[in-house]
Amino acid sequence: MVIKMRLDKYLSECTGKTRSQVKALVKKGLVTVDGVPAKSPDMKIDETSSAVTMDGKTLSYEKYVYYMLNKPEGYVSATNDNLHKTVIDLLSGENTRDLFPVGRLDIDTVGLLLITNDGALSHDLLSPAKHVAKTYEAILDGIVTDEDITMFKTGVDIGEEKLCKPAKVVDVDENKGHSRVYITITEGKFHQIKRMANAIGMDVLFLKRLSMGSLVLDPALSPGEYRRLTEDELNSLRSK
Ligand code: URA
Repeated sequence: MVIKMRLDKYLSECTGKTRSQVKALVKKGLVTVDGVPAKSPDMKIDETSSAVTMDGKTLSYEKYVYYMLNKPEGYVSATNDNLHKTVIDLLSGENTRDLFPVGRLDIDTVGLLLITNDGALSHDLLSPAKHVAKTYEAILDGIVTDEDITMFKTGVDIGEEKLCKPAKVVDVDENKGHSRVYITITEGKFHQIKRMANAIGMDVLFLKRLSMGSLVLDPALSPGEYRRLTEDELNSLRSK
């Protein structure tokens, strides 16, 4: 089935320009469709096969886009906020319309955040029924004991109706009275890792998400940097 789309919607989605900006460009004759100057912004095109240029540049339409961001501290996981900068603000230069973060990391949490406009994938990754595993590196302000690890494995009480689902803790590395731990959880309760740490009498000093399902934070990304997901990354995320 060929799906037809209005030219101005197509131009706006490809470029991030507003409908009125792209309409003005069409009126000036700066947009061509299959080699012919477009007469009207409301003409219908086939977004999968029409060859469209704007200002001499060939455009290509992507319905969904997927970015891996290494979230830095100080940014909120939201699309807009009155007080703070948002993770979407970090994608400067991209067409950020309709993009949103998949789930939330606290303002002081860093690391892997998927940003997309694909609501279905986001829903799948966040659905409690899917138990998508998320691994965090955390530095806690105390020494994590074997009993603490057993408690995490059994299910911690963080004051909710049910205990947390069993969480895996690997590699406790003690240093100057602090512990660096790698914790994998399959839920996404509000402040879950911090509340789990509190349940064993500790505070989280540093928290970084390393993976979500099959998606692993690219170590080449510095805080604040992002890149597109590769085909392989996207296929494995979808196949879960
Ligand atoms: N758990 C937390 O406490 N904070 C996060 O940002 C993510 C998981």
